[in-house]
Amino acid sequence: MIKISPSVLASDFSSLGAEAKRMEICGADYLHLDVMDGRFVPNITFGAPVIKSIRNKTNLIFDVHLMIDTPLDYIEDFKKSGADIIVFHIESSSDTAATVDKIIACGCKAGISVKPNTPVEEVFPYLEKLDMVLVMTVEPGFGGQSFMYETMDKIKTLRSEIKRRGLSTDIQVDGGINDKTVETAAAAGANVFVAGSAVFGAEDAAKAIDDLRNLAEKAFIG
Ligand code: DX5
Ligand code: ZN
Repeated sequence: MIKISPSVLASDFSSLGAEAKRMEICGADYLHLDVMDGRFVPNITFGAPVIKSIRNKTNLIFDVHLMIDTPLDYIEDFKKSGADIIVFHIESSSDTAATVDKIIACGCKAGISVKPNTPVEEVFPYLEKLDMVLVMTVEPGFGGQSFMYETMDKIKTLRSEIKRRGLSTDIQVDGGINDKTVETAAAAGANVFVAGSAVFGAEDAAKAIDDLRNLAEKAFIG
């Protein structure tokens, strides 16, 4: 139920394949891959060819977070690169329903993300089709930012809507997750935790992952 998804944004990009394998050995559940296009967010990272280049380095589930303006145009590319879960932003320019359908048609699990100022109710019409909703706990674009506690009400609202409908949708949080904030997010109803600096910046990444998981398991309200 609780999943830890280290974000490679905080890793050593010169050894991305080895970093991915290291996360698998350290006990991660997913590998979080932040794709930024310099348009949807003011930063550029990497795209499908880079993801493809590390696909055979690890068996981890690839959790691809698209912070790009027209995700619909690139879903097939990311599927081919080895993505397992594709999450895009509802604030992007692509049609939301068409993008969800395309991800599912490609055989991937679909997720929608909301930025801190976007009401979470915007994802409600698509909930039945989604495996995951990502509630951003920082403004997307950069690692190492501080967790925004004001996003917790959205997680509580979303968790009760998921329960009300009898769904098993995962709620992911991303941004500023560490051993001080993970319990707050889990207590609000999140169960998938992205962590960049808290894992890659730790001296012992396996311990950091284990600590996050244990704290989240104790605090998760289910
Ligand atoms: C930010 C990215 C995050 C980022 C999180 O836009 O979506 O995945 O890597 O980094 P930390 O955990 O350092 O806040
Ligand atoms: Zn992310």
